[in-house]
Amino acid sequence: MVIIKAKDYEDMSKRAAALLAEQIAQKPDSVLGLATGSTPVGAYRELAEKFRRKELSFSKVKTVNLDEYVGLLPEHEQSYRYFMQKHLFGLVDIKPENTHIPDGMAKNIRHACREYDALIDSLGGIDLQLLGIGHNGHIGFNEPAKVFEKETHVVELKESTIAANARFFSSPGAVPRRAVTMGILSIMRAKRILLLASGADKAEIVKEAFFGPITPAVPASVLQLHPAATVIADGEALKECKTL
Ligand code: PGA
Repeated sequence: MVIIKAKDYEDMSKRAAALLAEQIAQKPDSVLGLATGSTPVGAYRELAEKFRRKELSFSKVKTVNLDEYVGLLPEHEQSYRYFMQKHLFGLVDIKPENTHIPDGMAKNIRHACREYDALIDSLGGIDLQLLGIGHNGHIGFNEPAKVFEKETHVVELKESTIAANARFFSSPGAVPRRAVTMGILSIMRAKRILLLASGADKAEIVKEAFFGPITPAVPASVLQLHPAATVIADGEALKECKTL
């Protein structure tokens, strides 16, 4: 695992966008695994800017997102489909049919989960997976657990995750209690992984996840085993990691 210390959120976002742009330049039909949350917003803004400057094209890129809430329509402002449209897909030349997000409205959600893993396989797997990290160490919506859940599955969100995401909803009661997420194996099978972390509130979990034991109680810790994982974090998020 390579850990890169960025100066601040802007610097982290620029470095992340540069790495993603380089991936697309090397392989224009890359399969990108994408993440939502406040952390990657700056990187998406940088990518959209690179596209606007004609430095980058998404015309052959395919994307698979990590997760989606159960029960929110794609048009709902807090659905992850809406988020991706607003922060990236709507700003670049990606083909809508090449963007994939788990279906939180599927009638048979377990079947939809199996289909999502089959879809990732049919695309040839993920070339580069972008990740954030939750305060409890979750990646995607893989919450702390007794075992690593391997495949795409439905999760009951932890109260801490619901509380953290309540800022985006009218009230904590409006936050969906369940989500569909890629599993740990789906994530670990990505050829490269890029995790971003910013801010002092992530400092404890960054230290625990990347310098502590590998355990499903801290899902992100499994990334220590990935052969090509890069973490780009700002000084605040790395402030508990004294050796960096
Ligand atoms: P955040 O969420 O980027 O909004 O902090 C991170 C996550 O939950 O993965």
